[in-house]
Amino acid sequence: MMEPRTGDRVRCATGIDGLDTILYGGIPTDNTVILTGSCGTGKTSLALEFLIHGALNNENSLFISVTENSEKLLANIIPYRFFDKDLLKSGKLVFVDLPAMYDRLGMTKAELSMEEIDLLVASISSLVRELNTKRLVIDSITSVCYKLKTPEKIRDFVLKLSKALSDLRCTSILVSEVAPHSNAYSLFGVEEAIADGIMLMSNLERRGDLLRTLQVIKMRGTMHSRAKYVLDLTPVGVLLVPLLKGGSAGT
Ligand SMILES: Nc1ncnc2c1ncn2[C@@H]1O[C@H](COP(=O)(O)OP(=O)(O)OP(=O)(O)O)[C@@H](O)[C@H]1O
Ligand SMILES: [Mg+2]
Repeated sequence: MMEPRTGDRVRCATGIDGLDTILYGGIPTDNTVILTGSCGTGKTSLALEFLIHGALNNENSLFISVTENSEKLLANIIPYRFFDKDLLKSGKLVFVDLPAMYDRLGMTKAELSMEEIDLLVASISSLVRELNTKRLVIDSITSVCYKLKTPEKIRDFVLKLSKALSDLRCTSILVSEVAPHSNAYSLFGVEEAIADGIMLMSNLERRGDLLRTLQVIKMRGTMHSRAKYVLDLTPVGVLLVPLLKGGSAGT
């Protein structure tokens, strides 16, 4: 059988075996990917694991937290068997709270102006440059978009941010929150059109059980499986099994 053609894009291996298989080796480096799903589908867990594997691989990793404070987040990842506290001490894995950044930048109003959007993109970019960040997660981009309000501003923000991150050779995951039964990939319908990739996490009811699923909808720069996978959150990290093999055997 012929090997699948993977093109010549350099990959950022997520370190999550099943996901790297789906993506033929990983996320093409410099891509900005939307990780979308309703509440409790495992977005934060998957995004954190992506960063921990990066940090373990000596790539500087940055988590910009918007909705949860980093101390609480840390408490959740410490039980992971692959987590090493030294990653925090050595600065390989850094947590930054965005609300603190808003305060520092004097962004106190409910709605950001165009100038403030530019300032926010510049501040995130300089942080990424200073820390030499290779992997970034913003959890969630939806919370930032609430401060932008109009589709034009959201479009402007996501475009400028992904361009800046890509120029800095940073591979990024922007977490997006959607309502449980929504068919959209983002609340405002703008972010997904701009992003290089979309990974969708959902809940799926099967024989009285609520499964978590993951599906890669698009990923520029690579071939990928479009199949739905059942996702398990375990102490050894995210495990993925094709739905048709795992969840639906028999009748
Ligand atoms: N290592 C783990 N093993 C088992 N369950 C876990 C693990 N980590 C997280 N969970 C469970 O997964 C659920 C959701 O995880 P996570 O916070 O990653 O989802 P989320 O999509 O980010 O949710 P939200 O939309 O609320 O931010 C939690 O309810 C938690 O109980
Ligand atoms: Mg979350």
